[in-house]
Amino acid sequence: MTRTRSRRRFLAASGAALGTAALAAAAQALRATPELDRRVSRFLDAERDRWDYLNVPYQDGRILHDLVLALGAKRILEIGTSTGHSTIWLAWAAAKTGGVVTTIEIDRGRHARALANFERAGVAGYVDARLGDAHELVKTLPGPWDFVFQDADKEWYLQYFLDLDPKMAPGGCYTAHNVARPAARAVREFLARVRGDPRYDTRLAEGGSGAGISVSCRKPG
Ligand SMILES: C[S@@+](CC[C@H](N)C(=O)[O-])C[C@H]1O[C@@H](n2cnc3c(N)ncnc32)[C@H](O)[C@@H]1O
Repeated sequence: MTRTRSRRRFLAASGAALGTAALAAAAQALRATPELDRRVSRFLDAERDRWDYLNVPYQDGRILHDLVLALGAKRILEIGTSTGHSTIWLAWAAAKTGGVVTTIEIDRGRHARALANFERAGVAGYVDARLGDAHELVKTLPGPWDFVFQDADKEWYLQYFLDLDPKMAPGGCYTAHNVARPAARAVREFLARVRGDPRYDTRLAEGGSGAGISVSCRKPG
């Protein structure tokens, strides 16, 4: 086994135990390689039509990946891991920016399946996967965040934003899934809130699945 590979294994095994800062420092040493690119890309292509736990479609995962790269975001938070599809796209981008994805899932079975998927995809060293209730965890995780992706309980969309807004880094972007045809009132209230906030530029990401990803970027300064 190569040194890099054994290091990736170590990080994967200890990711949950390490704090995010320690994981970030360790992930920095890994950085993306052509080997990792091939491995993640092969995994995502092979699994493309197999995700069945409310996971984002492939196109939306690619949008998240591209946004993180374009921003150079390092401190990334995801609310709603499920079995890890969007996390893998985010973590692949984090591998290139030198960042780490903290992701939260409340369901033990999905969390366990996500951990296995991170291993299979080769990105476990870039993920700090938390099992718990995001309602509580988003309040206690310190931030700051360069990039947030919210994709959990729609009834909490506004509250997640209110809790995380003070922790957004200048220039950081807050993204939310399933905003194109919002059934939940809190999603509509969330959209109205970010669109009306002069500190943020809000737009809808183009070229996705049609589910709709809002992108609200905090103006620098
Ligand atoms: C739409 S799925 C996430 C899909 C995932 N982003 C992906 O693309 O693979 C929403 C997930 O949020 C989780 N969830 C719902 N309420 C939650 C809460 N309060 N805290 C943490 N996770 C929650 C659900 O269990 C579910 O797995």
